[in-house]
Amino acid sequence: MAQQQVHPTLGVRLHNICCIGAGYVGGPTCATIALRCPHVKVTIVDLNEARIAAWNSDDLPIYEPGLDEVVKQCRGKNLFFSTDVTGAIQEADIIFASVNTPTKVLGVGAGRAADLRFIESVGRTIAECANRAKIIIEKSTVPVKTAEALQRVVTANAKNTGGHRFWILSNPEFLAEGTAMKDLANPDRVLIGGPTTKEGVEAAGVLANIYANWVPRDRILTTNLWSSELSKLVANAMLAQRVSSMNAISQLCEKTGADVQEVSRAIGADSRIGPKFLGASVGFGGSCFQKDILNLVYICESEGLHEVAKYWQMVVDMNEHQKRTFTSNIISTLFNTVTRKKIAVLGFAFKKDTGDVRETPAINVCNMLLQDGAIVNVYDPKVKKEDALTEFKYHNMTVDESRFVFHKSAAEAVDGAHALVILTEWDEFKMLPYHEFYATMMKPAFVFDGRSILNHALLEEIGFEVHAIGKGRGPDGKLRVFKKEPQEVVSAINTALA
Ligand SMILES: NC(=O)c1ccc[n+]([C@@H]2O[C@H](COP(=O)([O-])OP(=O)(O)OC[C@H]3O[C@@H](n4cnc5c(N)ncnc54)[C@H](O)[C@@H]3O)[C@@H](O)[C@H]2O)c1
Repeated sequence: MAQQQVHPTLGVRLHNICCIGAGYVGGPTCATIALRCPHVKVTIVDLNEARIAAWNSDDLPIYEPGLDEVVKQCRGKNLFFSTDVTGAIQEADIIFASVNTPTKVLGVGAGRAADLRFIESVGRTIAECANRAKIIIEKSTVPVKTAEALQRVVTANAKNTGGHRFWILSNPEFLAEGTAMKDLANPDRVLIGGPTTKEGVEAAGVLANIYANWVPRDRILTTNLWSSELSKLVANAMLAQRVSSMNAISQLCEKTGADVQEVSRAIGADSRIGPKFLGASVGFGGSCFQKDILNLVYICESEGLHEVAKYWQMVVDMNEHQKRTFTSNIISTLFNTVTRKKIAVLGFAFKKDTGDVRETPAINVCNMLLQDGAIVNVYDPKVKKEDALTEFKYHNMTVDESRFVFHKSAAEAVDGAHALVILTEWDEFKMLPYHEFYATMMKPAFVFDGRSILNHALLEEIGFEVHAIGKGRGPDGKLRVFKKEPQEVVSAINTALA
């Protein structure tokens, strides 16, 4: 590693970075910095000893495509995982705070406001043990004005900095789980919010220089602190709003015989709208969308903007409605009872290519099925039963474990089931032997495709009764689906015309 350089005016050392919080954001983000900046030493710390032990093992605590390779390449060279929070803070003058900011469960604002105790405790710890000037970077998603609060906490508690200062920057993370490593390698933009003072701008410049090791300068945006903090909440609210909008339309499609995928394709071709995030599904999940919108709603209400708050609240309400509607449809289709019926659930993670189950729609769907007496049989390539049970517990849902069974293969989960329910869009589910599954299932055999990833025409040919989000049924009781994918039809016409 190169010799330690010190910033000429701020006095911070430039070749040591510490990240507090070794989770889904801290781990991949700082592993990427270590990979792209071999001259910088990166130490990721966490209070959770088991998590740090896992980061130091061959079995990393989170699954993210491409992450294993980067960690293996850098760990022990310029990437380190440790529980020594104090030591890492003292060694590094550039500190990322990537701790969790969940929704408050108790007290004022419970159910909507962000719980900022972890980020505040990071501020207090830094202040207590900091020996020099530091740049503190909010990587966590936080409400507007958190940087101001953090600045006050740190400044009021700083003991041993010898008059050195702290600069708080906002640098929200826009990675998506499942594609985090690709997103980090090639971000649409990096956003840095900082104080508008001369030193604040210089501190933002230090962070921009780190990213400039691999991100083109024109994709590094700088704003004031509050715009940066708010932009992250708004980005998630807008993305979730598109999903809720399409989910609302999917319900109308089912009633009218329109096909939501065709509607998505038609409207997504409009360059003003664009094709991304227009897929209807059983509902969005993940640790961020709901919590960040609720946080936005809470901020709007706190500012007296009740109509604005109501507008965004509907995005979350629609999502809840979608999960309930999907599950009610399963129960009513199965002759209004699922009691003692085996239901195969394929996919439990909130999206493909992750093992993360935080706020996964599977929790609500499975809970409703279990409440109605079903025996729920789950297969997910990356989710462990313990993690699913922890999420149920977090939502105060009691699970009768004798009726909530996890399997090592889809075939085991499906064997003897009345219905097969797709809840996560894992690619491997598209290629399963549905002919064989049909033979082992109870009849009539139902498929409920909550992600619209299967070949519905083929499934109907096999004999399944297929229910898919946003696809109406014809008078014959079958889905109104093309026997061929529209793209294939278009190609066939083009070939004929050529
Ligand atoms: N998960 C995502 O896809 C994503 C994307 C963008 C932004 N974010 C935001 O990033 C932040 C972190 O999210 P995450 O998914 O990585 O959370 P996480 O729960 O996976 O990780 C947070 C880690 O911080 C640790 N921690 C908490 N307080 C600590 C302290 N005082 N000292 C040391 N360690 C401490 C916890 O033990 C935990 O391991 C959140 O604000 C989230 O909203 C998440």
